[in-house]
Order: sequence, then C-alpha cells, then structure tokens
Amino acid sequence: MHNDIESILFTKEDIEARIDELAAEINRDYKGMSPDVVGILRGSFIFMSDLVRKFDFPCRLDFMKISSYGSGTASSGNVKINQDIGMSIEGKDLLIIEDIVDSGNSMNSLFKLLATRNPRSVRLCTLLDKPDRRQVPVHIDYTGFSIPDAFVVGYGLDYADMYRSLPYIGILKPEIYSK
Ligand code: PRP
Repeated sequence: MHNDIESILFTKEDIEARIDELAAEINRDYKGMSPDVVGILRGSFIFMSDLVRKFDFPCRLDFMKISSYGSGTASSGNVKINQDIGMSIEGKDLLIIEDIVDSGNSMNSLFKLLATRNPRSVRLCTLLDKPDRRQVPVHIDYTGFSIPDAFVVGYGLDYADMYRSLPYIGILKPEIYSK
C-alpha cells in the first residue's frame, strides 16, 4: 500500500467484481442499441477503459473535460467545457461515465447542457457516489459504490493530480491534504 494511504476502501478485486455486475446491467439495458459513451476527464479514464471492454453492444467512445462553477442559478451556464465531444449526439442514446458524483454540480450542469443538444436519452454511470455531499440533485442510473464522505484517491481519482494510477481506491491520510 502507498505510504500516503490510510486504508484501502475497495481493492482491485472488489472493483473488478463490481464492474462485472455493472457491465451485465448495462449490457441488458442497451441490448440491440448503439449508444455514444462519453467519459468525463480526467478521473473516469481507468474506470471507463475497464468498463467498456465488458460491453457487448457497439458504441462510439468520446471524452469531455468540464469544470463546474458550483450551484449557481443559471440553468446551464455554470459548467465550463474545457474539451468537448467531437460528435453530434442529436437523436442518440448517451451514456456518461464518471468517476465520482460529489456535490452533484458537475453532472447537474452537464445534463442541462447536453439536453440542449437533443439526445434521445442520457444516462449516467458513476463508479463512486458520495450522497452525503450532494448540493443539487443528480439522477444516477448505475452506481459502482456509495461511499461515506472520505477523501478517496486511486483508480483514476486524484489529489493534486497524484495517486490516479493506484490500482485500488484508498482513503488518503489527513496529514497529506491538510498540509
Ligand atoms: C471531479 C470528478 C467529477 C467532479 C465531481 O472532477 O471527476 O467530475 O469532480 O464533483 P461534483 O459532483 O462536486 O461536481 P475534477 O474537477 O476534480 O477533475 P478530474 O476528473 O480531472 O480529477
């Protein structure tokens, strides 16, 4: 275990097993369909790469990079798109892949923005959900794990851009982020 990690929340094996279950559910729901799968950079890249290789339907893959400005009152103006998808999603079924839903601001805002592009459907799959931290509502279709309000890193999740490459999800020692 990395020296900055206090404890392991989900091992590599826990994550693999849960991804198998999520993929089975998604494969059932998208049977006969060909959705566009969009990963939200950067945190989702490892989860997405493991998940999509379990899909048994054809799909296009793309990525977006966004920054949320918090829970402002603007209907769709509180998310900045740093990198957009390159494809038209009009009339398409969209599956968004996230690593974590925390306050909900990023996904709440992104869903409003995507709705203006007239997709046929939009669903959200997140590896982690921190429901205790929610500020705005987000409908999550597929959740890997619901977790308490702890500072988690690994398997794509970072602190100051470090720890993303850890193969497990761990709780960071408080002295690391309170320095
Ligand atoms: C993190 C995470 C989600 C978002 C969740 O992204 O990947 O996209 O924050 O937080 P919210 O529910 O409070 O909006 P971050 O901006 O840290 O970028 P990263 O994925 O590149 O680490």
